[in-house]
Amino acid sequence: MAPSRASGVPPCQTKVGQHKPGPMRLTSLVTTMRLETPEQQKQAAAEAAAEFVFDGMTVGLGTGSTVAYLLPALASRRLNIRCVATSPATEEQARSLGLVVLDFDEVDRFDIAIDGADQVAPDGWLVKGGGAAHTREKVVAASAERFIVIADASKVVSRISAPIPLELLSYGLAATLRRLDTVQLRAVPNSPDGGVIADYLGTVNDPGITAAMLSATPGVVDHGLFSPLLVSDLIIATPDGVSHRKLVK
Ligand code: 5RP
Repeated sequence: MAPSRASGVPPCQTKVGQHKPGPMRLTSLVTTMRLETPEQQKQAAAEAAAEFVFDGMTVGLGTGSTVAYLLPALASRRLNIRCVATSPATEEQARSLGLVVLDFDEVDRFDIAIDGADQVAPDGWLVKGGGAAHTREKVVAASAERFIVIADASKVVSRISAPIPLELLSYGLAATLRRLDTVQLRAVPNSPDGGVIADYLGTVNDPGITAAMLSATPGVVDHGLFSPLLVSDLIIATPDGVSHRKLVK
């Protein structure tokens, strides 16, 4: 599942382009080819994000198919960096590429963390957890000076909507499900931390209100709504190229 240069997808040759000042602080990153497929877009966004990592940094590594393109891009830079992975799959791929992966208990902050997303809204709210790693991913994002989100065009939405991934405590699960009402258990293994993975299917009128409601529900370990306050940068690839938007964090 880990893509590589040997997989037939060529490097996208993304270069940081000229800064275009504007209210959203958008920067276009120049690509030398059109990025027609989601795979090309994921790879281009991931390769652009790898350029933000420098020698000596402690790096949080997300989870998913977009991050799977980040890891070879990072490894090929041969930097002296220390990484922490948010999932066993990321850890295995990172180690196989020669990246140094520490346990999270050896680190209490990150210079940078880079991760994918399932939904990216215009105001910077995210949905994460399609790969069931959102609890770990949120801890890592919140511990990072800079949290960069990388995504292909299919992840850009006009507004956040269900499903919202959940990690639930197995203790009292039936009662938690009853309280949440509109929740479906996902047919996947428990998280590496023992949490049960589910999806909240209720209406999301305001992501902040839904996030607060889910956080306040006993038995919910964490949910996949990520506030814009966690996000430093959005690197989004579309067929036309890669754009970089700087947020407040
Ligand atoms: C895993 C995640 C992923 O970052 C998210 O699901 C995006 O995945 P992909 O890059 O495969 O589209 O949150 O829990």
